[in-house]
Amino acid sequence: MLDSPNTAVPTTEAEVIQYLKRHGAKDMLRFLTAGSVDDGKSTLIGRLLYDSKMIYEDQLAAVIEASSIHGTTDTDFDPALLTDGLKAEREQGITIDVAYRYFSTDKRNFIIADTPGHEQYTRNMATGASTCDLAVILVDARHGVLEQTRRHSFIASLLGIRHLAVCINKMDLVDYSQETYERIRHEYEGFAAKLQGVDLHFIPISALRGDNVVDPSEHMPWYQGGSLLYYLETVPVSTDRNLIDMRFPVQYVLRPDLNYRGYCGTIASGVLRTGDEVVALPSGRRTRVASITTYEGDVAEAFPPMAVTVTVEDEVDVSRGDMLTHVNNRPHVAQDFEAIVVWMNEEPLKLNGSYLIKSTTNLVPAAITDLRYRFDINSLHRLEAKTLQVNEIGRVAISAHRAICFDPYTRNRSTGAFIIIDRSTNATVGAGMILDQGKSARETTPATAEPKSTHIRREVSHVSPAERAGLLKQKAATLWLTGLSGSGKSTIAQALERALFDRGQACFILDGDNIRHGLNRDLGFNASDRTENIRRVSEVASLLNDAGLLVITSFISPYRDDRAKAREIVGPERFIEVFVDTPLETCEQRDPKGLYQKARAGEIAQFTGIDAPYEAPEEAEITLSTATTPAAESAARIIAFMERQHLFPAR
Ligand code: ADX
Repeated sequence: MLDSPNTAVPTTEAEVIQYLKRHGAKDMLRFLTAGSVDDGKSTLIGRLLYDSKMIYEDQLAAVIEASSIHGTTDTDFDPALLTDGLKAEREQGITIDVAYRYFSTDKRNFIIADTPGHEQYTRNMATGASTCDLAVILVDARHGVLEQTRRHSFIASLLGIRHLAVCINKMDLVDYSQETYERIRHEYEGFAAKLQGVDLHFIPISALRGDNVVDPSEHMPWYQGGSLLYYLETVPVSTDRNLIDMRFPVQYVLRPDLNYRGYCGTIASGVLRTGDEVVALPSGRRTRVASITTYEGDVAEAFPPMAVTVTVEDEVDVSRGDMLTHVNNRPHVAQDFEAIVVWMNEEPLKLNGSYLIKSTTNLVPAAITDLRYRFDINSLHRLEAKTLQVNEIGRVAISAHRAICFDPYTRNRSTGAFIIIDRSTNATVGAGMILDQGKSARETTPATAEPKSTHIRREVSHVSPAERAGLLKQKAATLWLTGLSGSGKSTIAQALERALFDRGQACFILDGDNIRHGLNRDLGFNASDRTENIRRVSEVASLLNDAGLLVITSFISPYRDDRAKAREIVGPERFIEVFVDTPLETCEQRDPKGLYQKARAGEIAQFTGIDAPYEAPEEAEITLSTATTPAAESAARIIAFMERQHLFPAR
């Protein structure tokens, strides 16, 4: 079953590469061990490593250390390429005590995320667990199921570990009693019934004596379920991995010279092939994959957890923290989301405090805006809570300063997980798993969604659009002005309204600052509020168009999706997108309302262009450059466009 005991231990880099190559083709199982402090974890790991004669971790650790000092770009040996992206994990700033140990049998390679420590055990465990397929839960046969056992089992299930191998250890100290084993098993099953989606496997063992660890025990003939190692070798885990949703978070951009730009990172999920059409998020730019390179040369396809360098056909501006995905299978891109969080710091969670969240390769300032509840670990009931203390687990709402790309954790463990970092101490204070909220708030009110009310129908007017157009001598349309704050939207809107009116056209401005005093006084500036702002304004514009008016809107409307929905609501045939294209520097220099200055001073949060995004239009009907064109001239250009569309007679 095991590799031959006299396999030489690799000592040089070349030998390590050889070793990993030889074993690389085999299936990989990552697991962790959890339990209370004295449950015998290290004895068990020692037993597995010793009995499998594969104690390589020191050599590998040395290689990993060397290459992480040099960095991937300037060393030709990058063990991260071979050792399954471990370096990426290290780079995630998770410097908690998680040691990875390796061993292999002829069936599988194994990585044990070993999480030592006493008080900090939970946090170490949560950190190690996020990449594991399986957890070995150790229970001391003399003590049975303790709170720690329940806590760790719960965390393991929250972290998406589908397989729990519950090892009832120290069976030698209870005379290998079947009755004791059955009682503990029964108790554990009672608790585990509340854990979702986990597969349980119970094994009575003695790590110290070696019973049922690698070889079946002679002392427990009443147990026929196979040893722990047999289970580890045979439990099916490959289907637990997400090979459907391709996600490639960019870790860094490689730019050795002007002609080459490569995006480096680890494939988080799915399969990426050369020639695939991909979209860079959050910018939304599309291109195709030109090449995929690994340590061993170019490949036609890559899958997790391969570390690769990708080049694309077009110049798209991608930076660290961005994500490449397939065009028709995208993650959520939002600033607001809900998550289950394991709190890991002695300092309790501060609502609305200043944190950083790290999700894939992205580091973003964020606030925890609400604590919905915390869990009672023993009963798994939800309790009302004002904060989370160390080791407590609860559900929170998070608002990030910039949109991030994510999937629900249950669908994708790589893109659904994040850690929370205290900005002042740089300590990792929490680990989170993003929940499936249907869709995130910003996406919940699609423009074309069905109304909430039922039993409603549309009444029909007895005045037709053509009759109205005849009366007003114009075809209705919406001029949708978009651009940064201070770009000149309102000035152009006012010049345009004046000019149209003077020509005898019926027109009206909807302006952000005005609408936010009334209709939208309940909305702020986070992503979902902005989306709702734009949705309501689009509905109003649509109604005013129905009334026959020419509508000019003046809203930053920073999200491309929102503007696309506005176009849908108003009707594409009446919608004219006008990009007021003024560079951020110019807007900031003008700063007509002194808001940029305040935003820079940290007095205004989520200010567009400073710490909130602006997604420039890709296909606006009209683009105006206010740096070179006075407002009156811009208005004249828009009117000329409208004349060409035959919205009203030309002069
Ligand atoms: S939008 O993003 O939702 O389209 P909208 O156009 O309604 O924004 O409002 C933008 C105006 O609100 C700006 O011109 C500015 O005067 C003011 N404002 C106040 N706070 C912010 C902020 N955080 N970001 C952008 N604009 C803000």
